[in-house]
Amino acid sequence: MSATEVVVVGGGIIGLSIAWRCRQRGLAVTVHDGGGDDGAWYAAAGMLAPAGEAGFGQEALTGLLVDSAARWPEFAAELERETGIGVGYDSVGTLSVALTGDDLAEARRLWAYRRELGLGVDPLLPSALREREPGLSPRVRGGAHAPDDCQVDPRRVVAALRAALGPAVLRGRIEADSAGSDPSAGGGTRLAELVAARPGRAVVIAAGAGTAALTGLPVRPVKGLVLRLRGAPGLLRHVVNGWADGRHVYLVPRADGEVVVGATQEERADSTVSAGQVLELLRAATDLVPELGECELVETVVRHRPATPDNAPVLGAVGGGVLVAAGHHRNGVLLAPVTADLIAELVATGKSAPLLEAFAPGRFG
Ligand code: GLY
Repeated sequence: MSATEVVVVGGGIIGLSIAWRCRQRGLAVTVHDGGGDDGAWYAAAGMLAPAGEAGFGQEALTGLLVDSAARWPEFAAELERETGIGVGYDSVGTLSVALTGDDLAEARRLWAYRRELGLGVDPLLPSALREREPGLSPRVRGGAHAPDDCQVDPRRVVAALRAALGPAVLRGRIEADSAGSDPSAGGGTRLAELVAARPGRAVVIAAGAGTAALTGLPVRPVKGLVLRLRGAPGLLRHVVNGWADGRHVYLVPRADGEVVVGATQEERADSTVSAGQVLELLRAATDLVPELGECELVETVVRHRPATPDNAPVLGAVGGGVLVAAGHHRNGVLLAPVTADLIAELVATGKSAPLLEAFAPGRFG
């Protein structure tokens, strides 16, 4: 179908980006969302890191990550031009570091795999590592530089997208009162009403972990705890992605002295901030960069990554004028530009880009 009107269900970074791109194509747009901060974007650190996130056996997903990373500079620049809101796009690169010999062995396997995929990962001697990042502990055994990895501030991106779209576009949340039903079959009361209301209207479900209840697709919540510290600006120069005694942690410094420390990953739907999880993150963070212990702990926040059985997103039409763009798991911020461009193209022209094939909702039967 080629639509002239689009209703986006979900106002996180994915839903808003799709709405923005659809409107740029001349479509009438509305977004259904509570307008609060309960989305995964609110916890996200904003690493745009194909080389830091590519996992074993995820070649198709890595291709999508790389494609989207290449779209980010223009996406950020356009958003800033349109709204006057800086989104914190920074191309400083990532340092991947390992504390112990075992951590280094594990990291080297991953770096080798990522290099095989053509990703920029340059191993560094400990001396070169500390020259780049003087705050690293002398105990850190080794590391690598990923020069193409970047970062952005997701909270600023969402503020800019909301400003670009304007308040008139926002409507209230769609309740998942049709849990498990097939919207294309008209099972979801409110969703079915939206779809049936007008020919030429497409409905895009981009409701993060709430997508399962609206569509029946297997999108599960994966709990993540993220901390925000405040210290002196310049305490860290790079994003640091590290292993410390088998614990994985990343440290994302912002220009104003904030350092985002993330993240736990648990197959749970609750929002409890447990002392043990805070301790684990802080222990790993201070093992790698001892001075972080002097920072103020200003925030603990739990949100839920939306994940599918193969941990790659579901992107495409599910029938009856309904499309889905969800399940971005650890990469929602990075994948926003490619998702928005390709879903907007699909909505506006009916053409599905070849890049979407591997992520079709139908792969889950
Ligand atoms: N992208 C990092 C995370 O999901 O924790």
